[in-house]
Amino acid sequence: MGNILTFENVDAGYGRVQILHDLSFSVEEGEVYGVIGPNGCGKTTMFNALIGLIIPTKGKITFNGQDVTKVKPAARCHMGIGRTYQVPRPFEGMSVFENVLVAAVHGAGHSEHEGRGVALESLKLTDLYEKREIPAGELTLLDRKRLEIARALGTQPKLLLLDEVAAGLTEAEVQDVMKMVADLKAAGYSIIWIEHVIQTMVESTDHLMCMAEGHQLLIGEPRPVMESKEVEAVYLGVEEEDIEDE
Ligand SMILES: Nc1ncnc2c1ncn2[C@@H]1O[C@H](COP(=O)(O)OP(=O)(O)OP(=O)(O)O)[C@@H](O)[C@H]1O
Ligand SMILES: [Mg+2]
Repeated sequence: MGNILTFENVDAGYGRVQILHDLSFSVEEGEVYGVIGPNGCGKTTMFNALIGLIIPTKGKITFNGQDVTKVKPAARCHMGIGRTYQVPRPFEGMSVFENVLVAAVHGAGHSEHEGRGVALESLKLTDLYEKREIPAGELTLLDRKRLEIARALGTQPKLLLLDEVAAGLTEAEVQDVMKMVADLKAAGYSIIWIEHVIQTMVESTDHLMCMAEGHQLLIGEPRPVMESKEVEAVYLGVEEEDIEDE
């Protein structure tokens, strides 16, 4: 299978502050691609460049064979890039179903009738179908994370972007998330998954990229990347800086 996504030598940032430096990597169609790296290294910023919230000052982003480097966010969403946010932000007063319906109608541009079908499918894939009438504000953290994924699925993405969906969950809940990601992969989605929970990255990904200072430090099979000297050094460096700060 070919690549669903390629970053080639991308520089990007916020205003004059450059965060991504010559970032290059590719994601194969149908795989789970893990991304790790210390806090502030630019993982979420990579997602922002990928969905079009920020436009690279150099380099090229190719999605599904098309150059999307300068394509607007709404158009990229229609092309099939669906993201979750690191901090879930549902419409709290609306039901679980309505939250996903909004994504399907406004994000993907479905009619309300089509949107309803897509929303119900998304809720089944994320195990929220039974909870569809509950106000989103009443959900547990795990279910809020599920809803965040369901909303992304409501836009009918080819490529699903998960930003720390396992953060803050218990071990048993992390297992549930890993099972859901495996189901989504089996359903044919390509997935990029940013996560600090090491177990998820070693067990659930096909390739793993460690970023450092906005650049790909190391890319490869998950376990060798995780156990490499380079990756150990970059995390150790962060811990030492933290200690010096105290
Ligand atoms: N909207 C913004 N405007 C200016 N700077 C920002 C903005 N968002 C993030 N940054 C800065 O960009 C850098 C990279 O942040 P980013 O959120 O991409 O890191 P991250 O790798 O996702 O970290 P974490 O693991 O903590 O989520 C940080 O220095 C951050 O302060
Ligand atoms: Mg982040």
